[in-house]
Amino acid sequence: MAHTPTPLQPLRRLHAERGGPLIWLKRDDMTGSILSGNKVRKLEFIAAKAKSSGFTALITCGGIQSNHCRATAFVAAQLGLKCHLILRGEPKVEAMTEGNLLLDRLSGCSISFHSAAEYNVHLPDFFAAAESRLQDQGFPALKIPTGGSNADGIWGYIAASEELCGDFRHHDIQPRSLVVATGSGGTQAGLIAGMSHFDPQLSVYGVNVCDDAAYFHHKIQKDFDDWYSQYPFQTKPLDCSNVLTEKINIIEGYVGDGYGLVSNDVLKIIQKLSRLEGVVFDPVYTGKAFYALLAEIDKGRFKDERDLVFVHTGGLFGLFPYSGQLAATA
Ligand SMILES: Cc1ncc(COP(=O)(O)O)c(C=O)c1O
Repeated sequence: MAHTPTPLQPLRRLHAERGGPLIWLKRDDMTGSILSGNKVRKLEFIAAKAKSSGFTALITCGGIQSNHCRATAFVAAQLGLKCHLILRGEPKVEAMTEGNLLLDRLSGCSISFHSAAEYNVHLPDFFAAAESRLQDQGFPALKIPTGGSNADGIWGYIAASEELCGDFRHHDIQPRSLVVATGSGGTQAGLIAGMSHFDPQLSVYGVNVCDDAAYFHHKIQKDFDDWYSQYPFQTKPLDCSNVLTEKINIIEGYVGDGYGLVSNDVLKIIQKLSRLEGVVFDPVYTGKAFYALLAEIDKGRFKDERDLVFVHTGGLFGLFPYSGQLAATA
């Protein structure tokens, strides 16, 4: 379902302006138009599991502008499956017609909206209710956790790691660091697992856009544990050592005022890259993480590196609800 391989593109004009390492963008914003970004890489493995296990519906959850929920809704539509989304937040009138939520509605999935307080306490109950409603209608449903970050989703970025190593050979580069936005941990988990096999010298850094480093150390470890137990044969050599655990690197300090809340400095970086390189980041994930990467380069973190990789994980539709704030910053 993902259109791969995606390009690996150097940001040469940014480099000419700033110096430092040359940043290469892995253009996973180009994995597709509706099934786009990092989400479809995970979902194609999750959807395969759903099909092979006889599920005819998908249920998942996320914020009201979740890229993962929109991608799941369209995976379902493309495969002829039913879909239910459990969304956190009240739909304001304007949000009903914008970005990911507009697309969710177009896809024909059913949606339930819950206040953050309700969602945080009762999410498992909402999953159970949706599952039993679909079951009663004759559609057994696969429950997909936040962000598609689970033992099946991990395989998406293991496959992407192999693809990236092919890109490195093609461009004749040997990057030692890769940076990605981390929201539910599955992309980073897959990259850590994949790179520890395909390019063990490469360090994977996740910039958390919510929660904190301690949370993601725990969450990514849990994804590894689920992966080991569901795929014991494939993961055996890694299971007995702490090799993956030691490779969980989180760059924290860039959440700002909270998940989905964006500073004008981040919006300025989004504008700058749009104009300088013709590349568009989203405010919630890639814009924040790219801002963090530039700030860390300025602090000297990657000073000895010649080439550095940033995975552009997509999220374009998430830009539209910020049009007012963007216009005010322009
Ligand atoms: C555009 C985008 N980038 C990055 C992420 C983070 O990926 P993950 O949830 O696997 O940590 C997400 C989703 O959470 C996303 O929608």
